[in-house]
Amino acid sequence: MKIVKFNLEDKNELIELDKECFGENCWNNELWSEILEDLEHNIIYLVKQSKEIIAYLMVFNWGQEKNYVKITSIGTKSSFRGQGLAHKLIQTMIEDMKKEGMRDFRGETRVTNYPMQKVFSDFNFRCVETFKEYYDNPTEDALRYHLNI
Ligand SMILES: CC(C)(COP(=O)(O)OP(=O)(O)OC[C@H]1O[C@@H](n2cnc3c(N)ncnc32)[C@H](O)[C@@H]1OP(=O)(O)O)[C@@H](O)C(=O)NCCC(=O)NCCS
Repeated sequence: MKIVKFNLEDKNELIELDKECFGENCWNNELWSEILEDLEHNIIYLVKQSKEIIAYLMVFNWGQEKNYVKITSIGTKSSFRGQGLAHKLIQTMIEDMKKEGMRDFRGETRVTNYPMQKVFSDFNFRCVETFKEYYDNPTEDALRYHLNI
């Protein structure tokens, strides 16, 4: 198992994994095109076992413009959940972004997404705000998290 950066040849497999993780809330082709056209800001980390993508993390690095890194998506293949892969991805991303001088990390998740809330709290992200009815399908509040290191 290894963590690697996204390469365009991973595109179709990554989109399939996003569908598996988010179902009808997965990103559409238009959004994927926008993301993949801007790989300078959209940084994508993959966990690969043999050649299979089993987990991924996407962040948007605002760099000096806004000085924070936003977690935009994270997902682990259902059969590999609970094995620490999300933790490994976040750890790798934070170390990587620190090297670029980034110290402010942000993200959000559904109020019912207890595994993701556990991941945030394990990295000492603070829950700073509840954003009412932020999500659709089903309508749900978001918990917003910040980490300053
Ligand atoms: C959220 C998600 C990415 C986590 O991935 P993962 O690789 O299983 O995560 P990890 O194994 O690193 O950590 C999961 C943690 O949640 C904990 N957990 C699992 N179910 C839980 C529950 N019902 N309540 C509380 N904690 C729970 C695990 O014990 C583990 O914590 P620990 O290692 O400190 O014990 C994965 O569940 C997923 O892909 N979900 C669907 C997509 C999604 O919701 N993405 C996040 C959108 S913000």
